[in-house]
Amino acid sequence: MVLRQTLLAASGSDRLRTIVAGTRLTRGVVDRFVAGEHAEDAVRVAGELAGRGLLTSVDHLGEETGHPAQAAEVTKGYLHLLRLLGEAGLTSSAEVSVKPTAVGLALGDEGEQLAADNISRICAAAAEAGTTVTVDMEGERHVPATLRLVASLRSEHPRLGCVLQSYLRRTEGDAAAMAAAPGSRVRLCKGAYAPDPATAYTARRDVDAAYVRSLRRLMDSEAYPMVATHDPRMIDIATTLARRFGRTYDDFEYQMLYGARPDEQRRLADLGARVRVYLPYGGDWYGYLVRRMAERPANAAFAARAVLRR
Ligand code: FDA
Repeated sequence: MVLRQTLLAASGSDRLRTIVAGTRLTRGVVDRFVAGEHAEDAVRVAGELAGRGLLTSVDHLGEETGHPAQAAEVTKGYLHLLRLLGEAGLTSSAEVSVKPTAVGLALGDEGEQLAADNISRICAAAAEAGTTVTVDMEGERHVPATLRLVASLRSEHPRLGCVLQSYLRRTEGDAAAMAAAPGSRVRLCKGAYAPDPATAYTARRDVDAAYVRSLRRLMDSEAYPMVATHDPRMIDIATTLARRFGRTYDDFEYQMLYGARPDEQRRLADLGARVRVYLPYGGDWYGYLVRRMAERPANAAFAARAVLRR
């Protein structure tokens, strides 16, 4: 718990970000969780995963963009990525994931509109390429604006997916609201940031119980649940709930992070399930990797061993 909180605090530190990037600790650590630096790397890995029967959601790493011009650059990066995925014939298996703060959400009063405009452009390009977009959910202070922008964009782009985090007490209500829209694509995860204990569950068993409650609402609806977890218990419960509510393997999907439980990804895909791998690429991997270490001590130990070997 203390390690998790320390690492989550470190994930937002610009000073540590600079130091860690400077040490170049990392190829082994980064390579395990990140496709590479460029869109071309992500497309290559997405192609390899598609060859093994796995779907992908490709994420351009980066968050808390500090200037509108940078948000425009990130947006351009997504349009380029979608073009490459289309040219590689991968848009039936690969979609994209977008962090709202990477495309401007945190940029003051204008940020919400700017992020909505940028995500709308990405959605239009994705639709043209024949694929979808899912909006990631970031730290708690961004949640209300993210939900507002998803709700407004869905009138034009109904297949826009949205992440919900079960550690937030509000999420069960948000899941119920999203479940009411037929085809609503909802990626349910537990949550990877450091939420306020006043508005979030902090004990693991409470976060898990809340996950199951929201998942049940989504499974018992016309929504399209995307079960984003590596937790064997949650995966079993998802499988049971899907059966109970008459869903086939085409009516929901399991999702896991690139580099996490690849054998389980394979096992589920071999059963005929839809399994989507969240596939990040880019140079700004610091915050993403530190969150992976916070949620799993074995990942931190893997990183520490890589440093000591140098
Ligand atoms: P949790 O960390 O609760 O661990 C439970 C058990 O699962 C462990 O005891 C272990 O048995 C197993 N396990 C977990 N991780 C493992 C690993 N790497 N290898 C082997 N076993 C493992 N968060 C967020 O806040 N916003 C977002 O937008 C997203 N997006 C997102 C997309 C996708 C596709 C995934 C899979 C996850 C996210 N997340 C996220 C991250 C998510 O919130 C969460 O932090 C991690 O998935 C870890 O929680 P789990 O439910 O996987 O297991």
